Amino acid sequence: MGSPHWKRLCLLLLAGLTSSLLLYGHYYATVELPPSQRIIASLLRPEPLVLAPSGTLRRAGSHRWALEGSLESGKSFKPSAELEEPKPSRKQPNTCVRSVMARAKADPKFGEMFRFDTPVLMWDQHFTPETWDRLKARHVPYGWLGLSHAVVGSTLRLLNASANRHLFDRDAFPGGCVRCAVVGNGGILNGSRQGKAIDAHDLVFRLNGAVIKGFEEDVGTKISFYGFTVNTMKNSLIAYEEYGFTQIPQAKDLRYIFIPSDVRDYVMLKSAIQGSPVPEGSDKGDKPQKYFGPEASAEKFKLLHPDFLQYLTARFLRSELLNTQYGSLYMPSTGALMLLTALHTCDQVSAYGFITANYEQFSDHYYELEKKPLVFYANHDMMLESALWRSLHRAGIMTLYQR
Ligand SMILES: *[C@@H]1O[C@H](CO)[C@@H](O)[C@H](O)[C@H]1NC(C)=O
Ligand SMILES: *[C@@H]1O[C@H](CO)[C@@H](O)[C@H](O)[C@H]1NC(C)=O
Repeated sequence: MGSPHWKRLCLLLLAGLTSSLLLYGHYYATVELPPSQRIIASLLRPEPLVLAPSGTLRRAGSHRWALEGSLESGKSFKPSAELEEPKPSRKQPNTCVRSVMARAKADPKFGEMFRFDTPVLMWDQHFTPETWDRLKARHVPYGWLGLSHAVVGSTLRLLNASANRHLFDRDAFPGGCVRCAVVGNGGILNGSRQGKAIDAHDLVFRLNGAVIKGFEEDVGTKISFYGFTVNTMKNSLIAYEEYGFTQIPQAKDLRYIFIPSDVRDYVMLKSAIQGSPVPEGSDKGDKPQKYFGPEASAEKFKLLHPDFLQYLTARFLRSELLNTQYGSLYMPSTGALMLLTALHTCDQVSAYGFITANYEQFSDHYYELEKKPLVFYANHDMMLESALWRSLHRAGIMTLYQR
């Protein structure tokens, strides 16, 4: 049956049964994983499963909201406190009483989870010997394990504009209450006619295969931020080309949010700021202008802080997948990272096209012509994300579009 707990149980069971399932030889191309890891994703899809519930299995998830501890046992989360950071000014004018921050602080559970002083973005000043030593012990996306000092350092040194230190300039919103829409690509938006409501927000976040042409009535046209990893961006161009996603969104005021999930992201970001072809690695020879347009400057790009990703995962999306042998592959989805970024920077947040309890009624994406079931990736935990969105909506901290 469709209960989330049963689905989660199946996922966990599958994680333990990978080797036997390999015999099926299922190959399911996924968008969010590097090619070498794709096969695992096919094994963790719940759909083909026919497993009897076993009385010996404990239902997982009871410590879903646990706050303590770290992703990797023995290393605890420490926000980088060594910097004198210009804290994002989060003064709440009276017009914004029902802000994310006010609502979160008033909520018993979320009041303990949110830490609004956690750095969201990373920029040149963060590249200190102390931060290097701390982050080189954690694997990406939570740190820099295995990455070269020269690559990380030369990229971060380019993020020296004031625009690299905040997502947006609060002075540009004299009303004081910055309203953000985050648009996921879920099938729930097909026929939703939410375009006008989405575009009415001050800022609109989109991500990965964000097809707009032909779906303006349902998803709107405004785009302030486009979030991605180089892997998801390039895979979206391949996987969703047939639906018209032939180019990464480009516009003068559009800003790109890099999720540093691999060395590729640092290498591409550096080339994008310099406006020069990628000199090395798996994207060697790529011209960043092809993705981000002709304007190459530091102002155009934002980089999520590995500590922010660690904090989000540890506090909001601490999946049991972390306890399986695939734990090192797990990370929150691109959509989840964008929504949580908005929740930590905007005053009011509406989520569109994100997974809802009745997701089975909708196609995977809003632009598919025939209904396709939602793909569950091995490296994400969509049921956990779904529970989080529902819970944030119920607490009045954000609005989740449902139908
Ligand atoms: C940022 O660094 C670049 C390259 O080193 C330099 O040309 C530029 O003037 C710097 N900008 C600021 C605002 O410091
Ligand atoms: C999207 O909506 C249209 C119009 O309501 C419908 O014909 C189509 O089947 C839907 N697509 C999917 C994938 O559900």
